Amino acid sequence: MSNVDAVVLVGGQGTRLRPLTLSAAKPMLPTAGVPFLAHLLSRIRQAGMTHVVMGTSYQAETFVEYFGSGEGSGLDIEYVVEHEPLGTGGAIRNVADRLRGDTAMIFNGDILSGADLGALLAVHRDADADVTLHLVKVADPRRFGSVPTDASGRVLAFVEKSDDPPTDQINAGCYVFRREIVESIPAGRVVSVERETFPGLLAAGANVRGYVDSSYWLDMGTPESFVRGSADLVQGFAPTAALPGPVGPALVLPGARVHPDAVIDGGATIGVGATVADGACVTGSVLFAGARIGAGAQVVRSVIGAGAIVGAQAVVIDAVIGDGASIGARCELMAGIRVWPSVTLPAGGVRFSADV
Ligand code: GTP
Repeated sequence: MSNVDAVVLVGGQGTRLRPLTLSAAKPMLPTAGVPFLAHLLSRIRQAGMTHVVMGTSYQAETFVEYFGSGEGSGLDIEYVVEHEPLGTGGAIRNVADRLRGDTAMIFNGDILSGADLGALLAVHRDADADVTLHLVKVADPRRFGSVPTDASGRVLAFVEKSDDPPTDQINAGCYVFRREIVESIPAGRVVSVERETFPGLLAAGANVRGYVDSSYWLDMGTPESFVRGSADLVQGFAPTAALPGPVGPALVLPGARVHPDAVIDGGATIGVGATVADGACVTGSVLFAGARIGAGAQVVRSVIGAGAIVGAQAVVIDAVIGDGASIGARCELMAGIRVWPSVTLPAGGVRFSADV
């Protein structure tokens, strides 16, 4: 694996995770105590790759500031910035001159996966493939484009999302590319690898293969999957070598304070300097640095932004609370609601109950 370049695409805007991604790029969001990307990089390192090229655009400088040249983590990281985002295919083309070997393993920077990367590479090499995609079997493939393969593993088609997909195998956002294929993507313009490059390769008769498995897999792109992924990492259900603490029901980061009569479970992360008051319950949620949860409040499957406040007895379920927002006592926020940064809701100001 040491002669395989890892390319990580991290230049997207992360619109589905707004407002969290207004101030931070999605792969930099604190997830089980560290930026999400640290978990992916730990898996890349574990698989034996050391040279990493990151395709950045949105909030490009934040990646360099945190990961630098990768020395601390045993990696050799280079950055290629797109001043205008080039799309997933354009981003891959844009790093071509940084590749050192004849094979590149490309990762979407927002996927949490337990795939055996060595096995993926072996399938690619055995088939002498141009491109090999990691395909994962999912319970409900209707939400994704699907990728049928024949008995030998050759990809037959790229099928758009539909109510009746031909297979339960979906594109898992991790690919092995032969170097010449990277170089064949048109340079200097926006290209989607999923919509343009892959169908184009098939039409041209290229040898496109699938490596199919049923390993742990999660696209962290939505608030719902973001909190689930973080909780899975904390509880040891999702693979990582970057968890800053032991696996368990909750992860409490340095300087956080949890009252002895509060309950934290379900893989919750209590961020640096965050506080959870008497009788509060924080389940399967992510509290960013300095968040404050009031007495008797309930926070379930939610993200509480940096420095945000949840007042006493408030109920926050399946919600995203932006940085610095203040949720008044007894408010009830649920069902996917998003509160923008610095917004203040007065005590009892937003409720689901009729209060009769
Ligand atoms: P949404 O806006 O919520 O769809 O998120 P996104 O912008 O991250 O898009 P998507 O989830 O489709 O992207 C998959 C991966 O590719 C993510 O890791 C993105 O950071 C990355 N990505 C998407 N577009 C670009 C791009 O134009 N340039 C680079 N370098 N990476 C990209």
